[in-house]
Amino acid sequence: MTKKTTILDLQNKKNNGQPITMLTAYDYPTAQLVDAAEIDTILVGDSLGMVVLGYKSTVPVTMAEMLHHCQAVARGAQRAFLIGDMPFMSYQADSGEAVRNAGRFLKEGGMDSVKLEGGREMVPAIKAIIAAGIPVLGHIGLTPQSQSKLGGYRVQGRTAAAAIELLEDALALQDAGCFGIVLEAVPAVVAAEISQRIEIPTIGIGAGAGCDGQVLVLHDLLGLYDRLQPRFVKQYASLRQTIIDAFLTFRAEVNQRDFPAHEHTYAMKAEEEQAFLNWLEE
Ligand code: KIV
Repeated sequence: MTKKTTILDLQNKKNNGQPITMLTAYDYPTAQLVDAAEIDTILVGDSLGMVVLGYKSTVPVTMAEMLHHCQAVARGAQRAFLIGDMPFMSYQADSGEAVRNAGRFLKEGGMDSVKLEGGREMVPAIKAIIAAGIPVLGHIGLTPQSQSKLGGYRVQGRTAAAAIELLEDALALQDAGCFGIVLEAVPAVVAAEISQRIEIPTIGIGAGAGCDGQVLVLHDLLGLYDRLQPRFVKQYASLRQTIIDAFLTFRAEVNQRDFPAHEHTYAMKAEEEQAFLNWLEE
Protein backbone atom coordinates (compact mmCIF):
# COMPACT_ATOMS: atom_id res chain seq x y z
CA MET A 1 0.00 0.00 0.00
CA THR A 2 1.22 3.55 -0.78
CA LYS A 3 2.44 5.40 2.30
CA LYS A 4 0.92 8.85 2.63
CA THR A 5 3.38 11.66 3.38
CA THR A 6 2.65 13.63 6.56
CA ILE A 7 3.89 16.86 8.15
CA LEU A 8 6.06 14.68 10.43
CA ASP A 9 7.84 13.27 7.36
CA LEU A 10 8.50 16.83 6.16
CA GLN A 11 9.89 17.87 9.54
CA ASN A 12 12.04 14.71 9.66
CA LYS A 13 13.45 15.58 6.26
CA LYS A 14 14.52 18.99 7.56
CA ASN A 15 15.96 17.46 10.73
CA ASN A 16 17.94 14.94 8.66
CA GLY A 17 19.12 17.52 6.11
CA GLN A 18 17.13 15.90 3.26
CA PRO A 19 15.57 18.28 0.71
CA ILE A 20 11.77 18.48 0.46
CA THR A 21 10.15 18.54 -2.99
CA MET A 22 6.90 20.34 -3.81
CA LEU A 23 5.12 20.91 -7.13
CA THR A 24 1.81 22.49 -7.94
CA ALA A 25 -0.95 20.44 -9.56
CA TYR A 26 -4.46 21.48 -10.49
CA ASP A 27 -6.33 18.44 -11.76
CA TYR A 28 -6.53 14.62 -11.77
CA PRO A 29 -3.90 13.88 -14.45
CA THR A 30 -1.30 16.36 -13.16
CA ALA A 31 -1.79 15.07 -9.59
CA GLN A 32 -1.27 11.49 -10.81
CA LEU A 33 1.92 12.49 -12.67
CA VAL A 34 3.39 14.37 -9.70
CA ASP A 35 2.51 11.49 -7.38
CA ALA A 36 4.11 8.96 -9.77
CA ALA A 37 7.36 10.94 -9.52
CA GLU A 38 7.18 10.61 -5.69
CA ILE A 39 7.24 14.36 -5.09
CA ASP A 40 6.72 14.89 -1.33
CA THR A 41 3.96 17.48 -1.45
CA ILE A 42 1.44 18.86 -3.93
CA LEU A 43 0.34 22.46 -3.66
CA VAL A 44 -2.95 23.27 -5.35
CA GLY A 45 -1.74 26.82 -5.75
CA ASP A 46 -3.90 29.81 -6.53
CA SER A 47 -1.46 30.13 -9.46
CA LEU A 48 -4.33 28.04 -10.89
CA GLY A 49 -5.89 31.40 -11.76
CA MET A 50 -3.03 32.35 -14.06
CA VAL A 51 -1.72 29.09 -15.53
CA VAL A 52 -5.03 27.21 -15.90
CA LEU A 53 -7.87 29.73 -15.84
CA GLY A 54 -6.13 32.53 -17.78
CA TYR A 55 -6.58 35.37 -15.26
CA LYS A 56 -3.97 38.15 -15.27
CA SER A 57 -3.22 37.63 -11.57
CA THR A 58 -4.23 35.36 -8.67
CA VAL A 59 -6.56 38.00 -7.22
CA PRO A 60 -9.81 36.93 -8.97
CA VAL A 61 -9.51 33.25 -7.89
CA THR A 62 -12.53 32.12 -5.84
CA MET A 63 -13.09 29.47 -3.15
CA ALA A 64 -15.37 27.60 -5.56
CA GLU A 65 -12.64 27.42 -8.21
CA MET A 66 -10.02 26.30 -5.68
CA LEU A 67 -12.25 23.59 -4.19
CA HIS A 68 -13.23 22.27 -7.63
CA HIS A 69 -9.56 21.76 -8.55
CA CYS A 70 -8.55 20.50 -5.08
CA GLN A 71 -11.15 17.73 -5.39
CA ALA A 72 -9.68 16.60 -8.72
CA VAL A 73 -6.13 16.63 -7.30
CA ALA A 74 -7.23 14.67 -4.23
CA ARG A 75 -8.70 11.99 -6.53
CA GLY A 76 -5.39 11.75 -8.43
CA ALA A 77 -2.82 11.72 -5.60
CA GLN A 78 -2.43 8.94 -3.04
CA ARG A 79 1.06 9.57 -1.71
CA ALA A 80 1.86 13.29 -1.63
CA PHE A 81 0.92 15.56 1.27
CA LEU A 82 -1.75 17.90 -0.13
CA ILE A 83 -1.85 21.66 0.46
CA GLY A 84 -4.72 23.88 -0.68
CA ASP A 85 -3.92 27.54 -1.31
CA MET A 86 -6.41 29.92 0.30
CA PRO A 87 -7.48 32.48 -2.33
CA PHE A 88 -7.42 36.26 -1.91
CA MET A 89 -10.03 37.51 0.60
CA SER A 90 -10.91 34.05 1.91
CA TYR A 91 -8.89 34.62 5.12
CA GLN A 92 -7.85 38.28 5.39
CA ALA A 93 -11.10 39.86 6.65
CA ASP A 94 -11.57 37.94 9.90
CA SER A 95 -10.33 34.84 11.66
CA GLY A 96 -13.75 33.17 11.83
CA GLU A 97 -14.13 33.33 8.07
CA ALA A 98 -10.53 32.13 7.69
CA VAL A 99 -11.26 29.04 9.83
CA ARG A 100 -14.50 28.25 7.97
CA ASN A 101 -12.81 28.55 4.57
CA ALA A 102 -9.74 26.58 5.68
CA GLY A 103 -12.09 23.85 6.91
CA ARG A 104 -13.71 23.64 3.47
CA PHE A 105 -10.31 22.77 1.94
CA LEU A 106 -10.18 19.65 4.13
CA LYS A 107 -13.89 18.73 4.25
CA GLU A 108 -14.85 19.46 0.63
CA GLY A 109 -11.51 19.74 -1.19
CA GLY A 110 -9.84 16.60 0.22
CA MET A 111 -6.70 18.54 1.19
CA ASP A 112 -4.46 17.75 4.18
CA SER A 113 -3.61 21.39 4.97
CA VAL A 114 -3.84 24.97 3.73
CA LYS A 115 -1.40 27.69 2.73
CA LEU A 116 -1.94 31.40 3.15
CA GLU A 117 0.12 34.48 2.36
CA GLY A 118 1.37 37.04 4.85
CA GLY A 119 3.60 37.62 7.88
CA ARG A 120 2.90 38.83 11.42
CA GLU A 121 -0.43 40.42 10.43
CA MET A 122 -1.77 36.92 9.66
CA VAL A 123 -0.88 35.37 13.03
CA PRO A 124 -4.40 35.63 14.55
CA ALA A 125 -5.97 33.89 11.53
CA ILE A 126 -3.21 31.25 11.44
CA LYS A 127 -3.60 30.50 15.16
CA ALA A 128 -7.37 30.17 14.79
CA ILE A 129 -7.05 27.80 11.82
CA ILE A 130 -4.47 25.63 13.61
CA ALA A 131 -6.63 25.62 16.77
CA ALA A 132 -9.36 24.10 14.60
CA GLY A 133 -6.98 21.21 13.77
CA ILE A 134 -5.87 22.35 10.32
CA PRO A 135 -2.14 22.48 9.49
CA VAL A 136 -1.02 25.78 7.94
CA LEU A 137 1.87 26.49 5.57
CA GLY A 138 2.95 30.16 5.69
CA HIS A 139 4.11 32.17 2.65
CA ILE A 140 6.27 35.30 2.89
CA GLY A 141 8.55 37.32 0.61
CA LEU A 142 6.84 37.97 -2.71
CA THR A 143 3.20 37.31 -1.92
CA PRO A 144 1.44 37.44 -5.31
CA GLN A 145 -2.02 38.20 -3.86
CA SER A 146 -0.64 41.59 -2.69
CA GLN A 147 1.49 42.30 -5.76
CA SER A 148 -0.42 45.54 -6.26
CA LYS A 149 0.63 46.73 -2.78
CA LEU A 150 4.20 45.53 -3.41
CA GLY A 151 4.37 47.48 -6.70
CA GLY A 152 4.48 44.37 -8.88
CA TYR A 153 6.14 40.95 -8.86
CA ARG A 154 9.37 42.14 -7.20
CA VAL A 155 12.11 40.48 -5.18
CA GLN A 156 11.53 41.12 -1.45
CA GLY A 157 13.98 41.53 1.45
CA ARG A 158 16.72 43.23 -0.55
CA THR A 159 17.59 45.84 2.08
CA ALA A 160 18.94 44.95 5.53
CA ALA A 161 15.77 46.40 7.12
CA ALA A 162 13.50 44.37 4.82
CA ALA A 163 15.54 41.22 5.44
CA ILE A 164 15.15 41.67 9.22
CA GLU A 165 11.37 42.12 8.73
CA LEU A 166 11.26 38.84 6.80
CA LEU A 167 13.18 37.01 9.52
CA GLU A 168 10.80 38.40 12.16
CA ASP A 169 7.82 37.33 10.05
CA ALA A 170 9.28 33.82 9.73
CA LEU A 171 9.79 33.57 13.50
CA ALA A 172 6.23 34.81 14.12
CA LEU A 173 4.77 32.23 11.71
CA GLN A 174 6.78 29.50 13.41
CA ASP A 175 5.56 30.63 16.85
CA ALA A 176 1.98 30.71 15.53
CA GLY A 177 2.33 26.98 14.73
CA CYS A 178 2.89 26.84 10.95
CA PHE A 179 4.34 23.49 9.82
CA GLY A 180 6.49 25.23 7.20
CA ILE A 181 6.98 28.47 5.31
CA VAL A 182 7.21 29.22 1.57
CA LEU A 183 9.88 31.85 0.86
CA GLU A 184 9.23 33.42 -2.54
CA ALA A 185 11.62 35.71 -4.45
CA VAL A 186 13.97 36.46 -1.57
CA PRO A 187 17.78 36.91 -1.83
CA ALA A 188 19.51 33.57 -1.27
CA VAL A 189 21.50 34.81 1.73
CA VAL A 190 18.32 35.95 3.52
CA ALA A 191 16.46 32.69 2.79
CA ALA A 192 19.43 30.59 3.93
CA GLU A 193 19.69 32.55 7.19
CA ILE A 194 15.94 32.20 7.86
CA SER A 195 16.13 28.48 7.10
CA GLN A 196 18.92 28.02 9.63
CA ARG A 197 17.29 30.12 12.33
CA ILE A 198 13.87 28.46 12.31
CA GLU A 199 13.11 24.86 13.14
CA ILE A 200 10.26 24.28 10.69
CA PRO A 201 11.02 23.61 6.99
CA THR A 202 11.32 26.45 4.49
CA ILE A 203 10.25 25.80 0.90
CA GLY A 204 11.90 28.15 -1.55
CA ILE A 205 10.80 29.50 -4.90
CA GLY A 206 13.34 32.00 -6.17
CA ALA A 207 15.01 31.87 -2.77
CA GLY A 208 18.19 29.92 -3.50
CA ALA A 209 19.63 26.58 -2.48
CA GLY A 210 19.75 27.29 1.26
CA CYS A 211 16.04 26.50 1.76
CA ASP A 212 14.94 23.14 3.14
CA GLY A 213 12.88 22.38 0.05
CA GLN A 214 11.99 23.73 -3.37
CA VAL A 215 8.69 24.35 -5.13
CA LEU A 216 7.94 25.17 -8.76
CA VAL A 217 4.72 25.81 -10.63
CA LEU A 218 4.08 22.75 -12.79
CA HIS A 219 3.28 24.74 -15.94
CA ASP A 220 6.55 26.70 -15.60
CA LEU A 221 8.62 23.53 -15.11
CA LEU A 222 7.02 21.88 -18.14
CA GLY A 223 7.26 24.96 -20.37
CA LEU A 224 3.48 25.28 -20.74
CA TYR A 225 3.07 28.89 -19.58
CA ASP A 226 4.78 31.70 -21.44
CA ARG A 227 3.12 34.88 -20.10
CA LEU A 228 5.38 35.39 -17.05
CA GLN A 229 8.86 33.84 -16.88
CA PRO A 230 10.65 34.84 -13.69
CA ARG A 231 14.41 34.33 -13.42
CA PHE A 232 13.94 31.58 -10.83
CA VAL A 233 12.01 29.27 -13.14
CA LYS A 234 13.91 26.33 -14.57
CA GLN A 235 12.16 24.71 -17.53
CA TYR A 236 12.74 20.97 -17.34
CA ALA A 237 10.76 20.33 -20.54
CA SER A 238 9.31 22.36 -23.44
CA LEU A 239 5.94 20.70 -23.70
CA ARG A 240 4.22 23.68 -25.31
CA GLN A 241 5.94 23.06 -28.66
CA THR A 242 5.63 19.28 -28.29
CA ILE A 243 1.87 19.64 -27.82
CA ILE A 244 1.44 22.12 -30.69
CA ASP A 245 3.42 19.73 -32.95
CA ALA A 246 1.06 16.87 -32.01
CA PHE A 247 -1.99 19.05 -32.83
CA LEU A 248 -0.45 20.08 -36.19
CA THR A 249 0.18 16.42 -37.08
CA PHE A 250 -3.41 15.52 -36.12
CA ARG A 251 -4.75 18.34 -38.29
CA ALA A 252 -2.60 17.34 -41.26
CA GLU A 253 -3.52 13.64 -40.97
CA VAL A 254 -7.25 14.40 -40.80
CA ASN A 255 -6.99 16.74 -43.77
CA GLN A 256 -5.06 14.08 -45.75
CA ARG A 257 -7.50 11.36 -44.56
CA ASP A 258 -4.59 9.42 -43.02
CA PHE A 259 -6.37 9.35 -39.64
CA PRO A 260 -8.21 7.29 -38.55
CA ALA A 261 -6.37 4.28 -40.01
CA HIS A 262 -7.59 0.68 -40.05
CA GLU A 263 -6.28 -0.02 -36.53
CA HIS A 264 -8.34 2.87 -35.09
CA THR A 265 -11.56 1.62 -36.64
CA TYR A 266 -14.26 -0.81 -35.42
CA ALA A 267 -15.48 -3.58 -37.73
CA MET A 268 -18.76 -5.52 -37.86
CA LYS A 269 -18.92 -9.32 -38.00
CA ALA A 270 -18.78 -10.26 -41.72
CA GLU A 271 -22.28 -11.83 -41.73
CA GLU A 272 -23.78 -8.83 -39.91
CA GLU A 273 -22.16 -6.46 -42.37
CA GLN A 274 -23.51 -8.49 -45.30
CA ALA A 275 -27.00 -8.49 -43.77
CA PHE A 276 -26.83 -4.74 -43.34
CA LEU A 277 -25.70 -4.24 -46.95
CA ASN A 278 -28.45 -6.56 -48.18
CA TRP A 279 -31.04 -4.55 -46.26
CA LEU A 280 -29.75 -1.31 -47.77
CA GLU A 281 -30.10 -2.76 -51.28
CA GLU A 282 -33.67 -4.02 -50.77
O1 KIV B 1 0.12 29.62 -6.04
C1 KIV B 1 1.20 29.05 -6.09
O2 KIV B 1 1.48 28.22 -6.97
C2 KIV B 1 2.19 29.39 -5.07
C3 KIV B 1 3.59 28.88 -5.27
C4 KIV B 1 4.27 29.68 -6.27
C5 KIV B 1 4.34 28.82 -3.98
O3 KIV B 1 1.89 30.06 -4.14
